[in-house]
Amino acid sequence: MVNIDHVATLRNARGEKVPDPVLAARISEEAGAAGIVFHLREDRRHIRDDDVFRLKEVVRGLFDFEMAPTDEMIKICCEVKADLATLVPESRQELTTEGGLDMEKSADDFAKRVIPPLKDHGVLISMFIDPNMKDIELSAELGAEVVELHTGYYANAQSEAQAQKELTALAAAADRAHSLGLRVNAGHGLNFENIQPFLDTVPHLRDISIGHALIADALFSGLENTVRRMSDIITG
Ligand code: PXP
Repeated sequence: MVNIDHVATLRNARGEKVPDPVLAARISEEAGAAGIVFHLREDRRHIRDDDVFRLKEVVRGLFDFEMAPTDEMIKICCEVKADLATLVPESRQELTTEGGLDMEKSADDFAKRVIPPLKDHGVLISMFIDPNMKDIELSAELGAEVVELHTGYYANAQSEAQAQKELTALAAAADRAHSLGLRVNAGHGLNFENIQPFLDTVPHLRDISIGHALIADALFSGLENTVRRMSDIITG
């Protein structure tokens, strides 16, 4: 699945209407993406409320609403009838999501306040968690349908040995989640260099969420043509 947040980051940097994350979603799905992910943050730093509703009009695959479990986000997610709510911890200062949910700390609140309205609106629930057994088991107990395994520790590993260790943890976590009947998603920090060992090692993967690396690569895949086009016009 393609996360289109950073198309909106670029748009917002100039306060213009382009590049439009909705067009990015259309192109991504035409190119084979299984769905579209976006994170509506409390501070609206990239995706904005009207993007969410415009995206809903065009997305044909999985519509994955990544969100902090706040009352405000739950309301919008139910209103737009997302296919999936991927619940993440969120802090204002972070540059990107920094870790998975602490399921032990969240369990009571999730059971009472967060999960019932989402389920009532037919939204599947995905817990973004670190690859550890306790968080997986608690996710299953709470009735989540999906876990998204946090791949950031693997992506940021400083040595081959560390990367191998993180892959082993991710594979064991995927096995456990699958055995409990959970769908296994994964994401964060995946790119063209680290995706293959990940796919070769981690079983039962359903959907993989990738954003930053795709938008960064797309820029350089297109820049040459774009500059040539403008150069041709200017030089006549
Ligand atoms: N999954 C979650 C829960 C995320 O918060 C992010 C980052 O927005 C991603 C996946 C995608 O990560 P990246 O942009 O590094 O590919």
